Amino acid sequence: MESKHLEIIYQESDYDELDAERKRLYDAALAASGHAYAPYSHFQVGTAALLKNGEIVMGNNQENAAYPSALCAERVALFAACATYPDIPVLRLAIIAQANGEVKESISPCGACRQVMLEVEQRSKMPMEILLCGKKKVKMFKGITSLLPFTFTADDL
Ligand code: THU
Repeated sequence: MESKHLEIIYQESDYDELDAERKRLYDAALAASGHAYAPYSHFQVGTAALLKNGEIVMGNNQENAAYPSALCAERVALFAACATYPDIPVLRLAIIAQANGEVKESISPCGACRQVMLEVEQRSKMPMEILLCGKKKVKMFKGITSLLPFTFTADDL
């Protein structure tokens, strides 16, 4: 038996160090989190997807009294982007969360959202940068495989 090593490379920076485009995406995700419908968890997640045509599509978590009928902020934004602009690649996706009026340190997307990001990335035919935005720091991943290794895709069918 042999042990294998897996390395994940990502960048981390302060908000102030971000370029204008990334700051704009951070701000859009933060604004979207303020409109999350999260009366059950009180955990408000906001997302903002930057498309290749310059459009920013926002999302936030949409909860439901029938709990499993809810949808995460990431999928709300990505499905809306794909529904409106089916042929336009998604370049970046910013994710942020707040609870009790306080922005959290960066959160990681759930497994189901990672799988959807993978499909969107494959449709886009280019890696999607993922920005995990926190109160102080932003972690940036160049492509979903940094967050979801050992993928299952159409190629496996
Ligand atoms: N949630 C998201 O929208 N995105 C994430 O990355 C993590 C969790 C939502 C689901 C649920 O509405 C609430 O946050 C608490 O889990």
